Amino acid sequence: MNSHLQTPIKIGPYHLPNRIVMAPLTRMRAPDNSPTDLMAIYYAQRASAGLIISEATQISPQGVGYPATPGIHNELQVAGWKKITEAVHAKNGHIFLQLWHVGRISHPDFHDGQLPVAPSAIAPDGFAVTPHGMKPFVTPRALETDEIQGIVENYRQAAKNALDAGFDGIEIHSANGYLLDQFLRDGTNKRTDRYGGTLENRARFLLEVTEAVVTVWGSERVGIRLSPSGTFNDMTDSDPETIFVYLLGQLNRFGLAYLHIVDALESDIRHGANVINLEVLRKAYNGTLIVCGGYDQTRAEQVIAQGMADAVAFGQLYIANPDLVERFKLNAPLNEPDPVTFYGGNEKGYTDYPVLTD
Ligand SMILES: Cc1cc2nc3c(=O)[nH]c(=O)nc-3n(C[C@H](O)[C@H](O)[C@H](O)COP(=O)(O)O)c2cc1C
Repeated sequence: MNSHLQTPIKIGPYHLPNRIVMAPLTRMRAPDNSPTDLMAIYYAQRASAGLIISEATQISPQGVGYPATPGIHNELQVAGWKKITEAVHAKNGHIFLQLWHVGRISHPDFHDGQLPVAPSAIAPDGFAVTPHGMKPFVTPRALETDEIQGIVENYRQAAKNALDAGFDGIEIHSANGYLLDQFLRDGTNKRTDRYGGTLENRARFLLEVTEAVVTVWGSERVGIRLSPSGTFNDMTDSDPETIFVYLLGQLNRFGLAYLHIVDALESDIRHGANVINLEVLRKAYNGTLIVCGGYDQTRAEQVIAQGMADAVAFGQLYIANPDLVERFKLNAPLNEPDPVTFYGGNEKGYTDYPVLTD
């Protein structure tokens, strides 16, 4: 069968051998927020993906919200990531770094007792994952207008560090209810300054971050992840279609490597998501589109065949199948992911999923 997924694609300057992307996956195996040698083994095992997008990685200590998640804001972290990019490149893979600031999805336990920051002082419903167990979210502190430029600079510096660490590009994490998403949505952004209110104002922070990292990488090596239908992390918006269509119109002028859309998940629909049709987003955006969210091989082939996406990212399937590309090619059975070992731990459920034997 003629496979769309196995057809090469050019993303930015890179000629990728297939359209099978490893989705960003937080695995909480980076003690002291530093990448480890075990992580290099894990990513290298998955290097046959057309593109690997790394787990979400903090741009600054303020951006931390989960234990044992890596950062890219100090030398030790850059050195750790360098080993990972080298291991992936040694196997002819490509890897982008996902840049992350959690905003309100954090806890004072990560910040010497200080409050996490957000567009507005609105607590998410739910619990933070702290080094001392689950604790109810607190009401965050609303960022002052003049603090925002400092965070833009943190993104720029993290992007420079990613370049030093040998990545092939970066993905701005503006999905799943973290800081940049919190600014986009009117459920979490009640600001009255130039970062709140109108569509233009709510999109401003993300566009400033995009401009900053593009100065480091050039636009063709920068991607952006959005979850327009997402409800994760207690996200709401009175009219998501309008803000996201507006935003995509603004992003068109950059000529980015790609836009990465997280489709509505079953959990979003259960939470009453205001689902935005992929067709609407495809129409609004001019460039390369990666989609993600509950895809198997059949649906992924279909979404490309229908012209709705150019490539597909797989999350849980990549956790369990380091050789997903080869398995798809052979229509081989897939390993089942084990959710118990998703977050934290050691080799088990991380680097010990079997590959097809030769
Ligand atoms: C264990 C786990 C960790 C995740 N970590 C991240 C992350 O760091 N950044 C991100 O943007 N999405 C993250 N996600 C979401 C996935 O990238 C993906 O959008 C989601 O799993 C849906 O795709 P799937 O059905 O193919 O798994 C994570 C999902 C899982 C299951």
